[in-house]
Amino acid sequence: MGLLAEKRVLLGITGGIAAYKAAELTRLLRASEAQVRVVMTRAATAFVAPLTFQALSGHPVHLDLLDATEESAMGHIALARWADLILIAPASADFMAKLRAGLADDLLSALCLAAETPIALAPAMNRAMWANPATCDNVRCLKSRGFRVFGPAEGEQACGESGVGRLLEPSDILRSAETLFALGGLTGHSVLISAGPTREAIDPVRYIGNRSSGKMGYALARSALAAGARVTLVSGPVSLQAPQGVKLVRVESAAQMYEAVVGLASSHDIYIGAAAVADYSPAKRAERKIKKRDEAISIELTRTRDILAAVAQLSNPPFTVGFAAETDHLEDYAKAKLADKKLDMVAANRVGKPEGGFDSEDNALHVFWRDGEGYLPMAPKSLIATQLIELITEHYAAKNSAQNPG
Ligand code: C5P
Repeated sequence: MGLLAEKRVLLGITGGIAAYKAAELTRLLRASEAQVRVVMTRAATAFVAPLTFQALSGHPVHLDLLDATEESAMGHIALARWADLILIAPASADFMAKLRAGLADDLLSALCLAAETPIALAPAMNRAMWANPATCDNVRCLKSRGFRVFGPAEGEQACGESGVGRLLEPSDILRSAETLFALGGLTGHSVLISAGPTREAIDPVRYIGNRSSGKMGYALARSALAAGARVTLVSGPVSLQAPQGVKLVRVESAAQMYEAVVGLASSHDIYIGAAAVADYSPAKRAERKIKKRDEAISIELTRTRDILAAVAQLSNPPFTVGFAAETDHLEDYAKAKLADKKLDMVAANRVGKPEGGFDSEDNALHVFWRDGEGYLPMAPKSLIATQLIELITEHYAAKNSAQNPG
């Protein structure tokens, strides 16, 4: 059975030439054994007739907010409660602006406002409309409120122009929708994540730091939450907002991160060390600002303690996942790290251009475990995080069932 089997998908169709692709999407959803109900805006009906969707979904299409018969049969509140997922494809620029503003003057916008289930948007519009600061701002705001945005794709547009704004292909929308239901495997489990850089003080104003932005660790925290886990995030100094629902512990130095993580690790089921922990720290921190002089100075550095190795060596360690950021010999170094630090899994990424990694929006990961490996190709960190959490969930569950057979 597929991930969408028996899931109740409310497909919202807004006005745009790409509305015709929603017919194929409806067919694919039904072929995946999802239950589908279709809601169309008035503008959408100018592009494709509701009868098409009635035939493909097997149910009458919902059109009006104030239709007396519809309200009594299945009104906007009932439709919003019915759905496991509201998927709007195509989502026009106008409709996203309405969602952002919280308008509720037609059936689809009203039920989105009343919804307590996830809402996914597959935008489709002219490239200049997509690039317009108003649309960018609306999309950013909707994402921060938890809306999922699938696409858009780049290519030829109906208007004859070419650029970013095309509706994703229906099969890609379907795959993206499936990933939303792939999660949930960590309900009742706890995940500890370390993220961001550390700062090693030289004197009261200077420190040794690194380029880590914390984006990967924060995206992992979000995905672990979405998978149903209780999440604690130990974070070095970053300019990111912690996802709502995460327990945040702020630290600055490698030593503080060590104390926080090692102290919390035994009370968590899974530990993911995504932080870029300094390997060296000044042997002593000057009490006062070091004055500039003509001659060179040197700072003595001492090794920091390895947090990941310490967690893996606890008497009752959590399922332990490390990261390996390497510029070369990625596979050899990652495998060595897995063995030397006695980890359950290592996620390796190449740092330095052209691939993602530090301070980048995208990432690609080569993941190793004791008897296998997997590759997550270059994608936005949010998607990579979801895929990595899925892999971790799978191997964590396998380890548990091996340790507790029956
Ligand atoms: O050995 P290396 O520093 O390359 O390993 C990287 C992994 O080890 C990352 O997961 C990082 O969070 C972790 N690490 C650590 N404590 C350190 C150094 C690295 O937990 N002092």
